[in-house]
Amino acid sequence: MTIRKVGVLGAGLMGSGIAEVAAKSGYETVVREVSDELGRKGLSRIEGSLAKAVEKKKLAPEERDAARGRLSTTTNLSDLAGCDILVEAIIENLDLKKETYRELDRLCKPETIFCSNTSSLTITEMSAATSRADRFAGLHFFNPVPVMKLVEVVRTIATSEETFETVFQFATSLGKDPIRARDNSGFVVNRLLVPYLLDAVRALEEGVGTAEDIDKGMELGCGHPMGPLKLLDFVGLDTTYYIAQIMFDEYREKRFAPPPLLKRMVLAGRLGRKSGRGFYEYGGGK
Ligand code: 3HC
Repeated sequence: MTIRKVGVLGAGLMGSGIAEVAAKSGYETVVREVSDELGRKGLSRIEGSLAKAVEKKKLAPEERDAARGRLSTTTNLSDLAGCDILVEAIIENLDLKKETYRELDRLCKPETIFCSNTSSLTITEMSAATSRADRFAGLHFFNPVPVMKLVEVVRTIATSEETFETVFQFATSLGKDPIRARDNSGFVVNRLLVPYLLDAVRALEEGVGTAEDIDKGMELGCGHPMGPLKLLDFVGLDTTYYIAQIMFDEYREKRFAPPPLLKRMVLAGRLGRKSGRGFYEYGGGK
């Protein structure tokens, strides 16, 4: 199947990144948000990232203009009807996702492939809300989407071979280097990453080291670009807390249980970079 038109649901951090790479890769891209204001916010995030890519000499100004020209936003789900593939990156609320998929299943042409960027919810459960479970897969990107090379392409027990191969090729066409994963909560990366991040919070809780020293240990000792607590601030403490809860619910294993300190920081609104404070403070744009 040839993919020409891409629909992206949600213009948050992940959705706008996905839309940006799709438009840069030559696809006509429609982004759907629930309000004009959120759509505009997503577009300005994309424009900021495209400008940074030009500044970093990753993109020529003409390519930026062409990518911008391929992008449009809408608030109507029906504007996604003609898309060949949809990538959903709305909030991690299973009921809302299922409701959205049900509606899209009715609106879209039968060949449209549905993909979810969920990081921990079950793809199978979403696909069961549609009549196209064979044309349904997971497509999990990493933050920041324009920079990180990995995409996890996730197969459920119902995903057809043809759909899986089309989605895998699509991920490659976005300039990514995908891996294959089964539909188990957390797939490959979060299954390994989330217990590590939670353990770093436990280490801090237990006074093993300061936040700075825990991060420095992993940056200089293991060559990680960011230590675990900086990475938690980057991903969002609320997002990680939410993912951990879903994974704990699925596996019932202690290593996925969110530590009390993480919960308290989320309750106190210390969500990381996005709220200006997490394990570190981010005043003045830092
Ligand atoms: N478009 C294209 N390229 C860009 C860009 C943009 N908007 N912005 C930056 N770049 C490029 C730069 O040119 C540079 O490329 P180079 O290495 O070839 O020179 C590279 O990206 C790095 O950019 P910077 O030099 O500006 O930034 P840093 O060196 O400070 O790196 C970082 C920033 C990439 C965020 C790095 O710190 C990092 O890799 N951190 C870890 C991120 C990570 O682990 N993400 C995964 C989170 S988990 C997740 O998302 C899953 C979810 O389910 C929780």
